[in-house]
Amino acid sequence: MKIDILLGLQWGDEGKGKIVDVVTPNYDVVARFQGGPNAGHSLEFNGIRHVLHIIPSGIFHKDKINIIGNGVVIDPVIFEEEIAALVEMGLTPTDNLYISKKAHLILPTHRLLDAAYESKKGNAKIGSTLKGIGPTYTDKTARTGMRVCDIFSPNFQDKYDNLIAQHKEILDQYHFDYSERLPEMDKKWHASLETLRKFKAIDSEYVLYDYIKEGKTVLAEGAQGTLLDLEFGAYPFVTSSNTIAAGAFTGLGLDPHFAGKVIGIVKAYCTRVGSGPFPTELFDATGNQLREQGNEYGATTGRPRRCGWLDLVALKYALMINGITDIALTKADVMSNFDTINICTAYRVNGEVTTQMPTASDVEIEPIYTPLQGWKEDISQCKTYEELPQAFKDYIQFIEDQTNTKISIVSVGPDRDATIFRS
Ligand code: GDP
Ligand code: IMO
Ligand code: MG
Repeated sequence: MKIDILLGLQWGDEGKGKIVDVVTPNYDVVARFQGGPNAGHSLEFNGIRHVLHIIPSGIFHKDKINIIGNGVVIDPVIFEEEIAALVEMGLTPTDNLYISKKAHLILPTHRLLDAAYESKKGNAKIGSTLKGIGPTYTDKTARTGMRVCDIFSPNFQDKYDNLIAQHKEILDQYHFDYSERLPEMDKKWHASLETLRKFKAIDSEYVLYDYIKEGKTVLAEGAQGTLLDLEFGAYPFVTSSNTIAAGAFTGLGLDPHFAGKVIGIVKAYCTRVGSGPFPTELFDATGNQLREQGNEYGATTGRPRRCGWLDLVALKYALMINGITDIALTKADVMSNFDTINICTAYRVNGEVTTQMPTASDVEIEPIYTPLQGWKEDISQCKTYEELPQAFKDYIQFIEDQTNTKISIVSVGPDRDATIFRS
């Protein structure tokens, strides 16, 4: 099959950027299908760490084409900053990065609206990354948004001014003062369009169709994670796009018949940034240990990530709705000094044991754990599956048995080289 999909199976930050970078040599094209600068995808090689937000994680492979699909929302200012960092490293992204004309634009006022909505919510806030994601997707569905194609249109400035005026009305209703910040943001935004205009603007649906007919292979890269999906996450504590496999088809314009593998990235424990249910969250020393040893601080916002044990109820749900064929397991190296490792295998909700995800986001969930023996060994230098300690192999086997899904990639460190492929 011609199109594989790679996405996160938890609440984001599973290590998607690293794994996309590692598997990119197997593909001709890497295409992002949703999200925007709320994402922070880290990858490491030659001792340098890179964080990408809007640009696909295949960009460091100069001979591969990278596409930002129609499902992505683009902030031209952040895009310009990302491009500048790549150019400084000696890359020429104008050669191998194409952008869908249909991708929506994040305007400066989308970011202000994000802040206004969040501050109004008080304690009920979602914990958004404040990158303007929700308001931009809101305009998209309300059919009032602006797209990349608009920046080439003679009516561009009128459209922009109209939308900004609408946003100002809402900001005024929220008593949100924009008078000082907006003029500077606006100036920077317009200046950054110069960079965006240098890139090849495409209709990704035609381009990808032609590539596939020519025999090229595509990797669709997801952002966020399945449990943040607009439909299937714990609403309203979700992002505003479809992070699941189905999102790849709408976010790029793909024919589902071409789909091949769906690779799910799973962190060996769980993390979440922002508000919302997290049944296995740890508030104790173990949680702190995971945060410190795993360096669990947001790649986009720097916020400390909430940490907890692996949750198989949530994972099985994610496997089911995505049709996952392969799991890539990341960051087990972080748990190398634990005597016991707990895995949540069921929930107790209102006194009843269940293995289904509750729909309401305000129910009390008590996790039921199966304790497994820790491996108490540094696995970060292991290069083959055979070298891994037996207790870790047992942990892998347990997850495979429970999920009925093969763990075909085991990542034991942030670097490209710290990756074990299982045949
Ligand atoms: P993404 O959003 O899914 O791409 O993940 P992030 O980049 O936000 O967060 C994952 C973090 O873990 C990054 O700092 C990665 O460099 C790092 N990382 C990825 N895989 C591994 C791994 O197997 N072990 C360790 N220790 N770190 C990893
Ligand atoms: P990557 O691609 C982790 C979370 C935010 C917040 C919620 C809504 O790096 O895995 P938004 O700004 O989208 O309106 O925020 O979603 N969130 C992420 N958490 N990783 C991400 O992306 C995230 N993108 C959004 O913290 O709880
Ligand atoms: Mg991230």
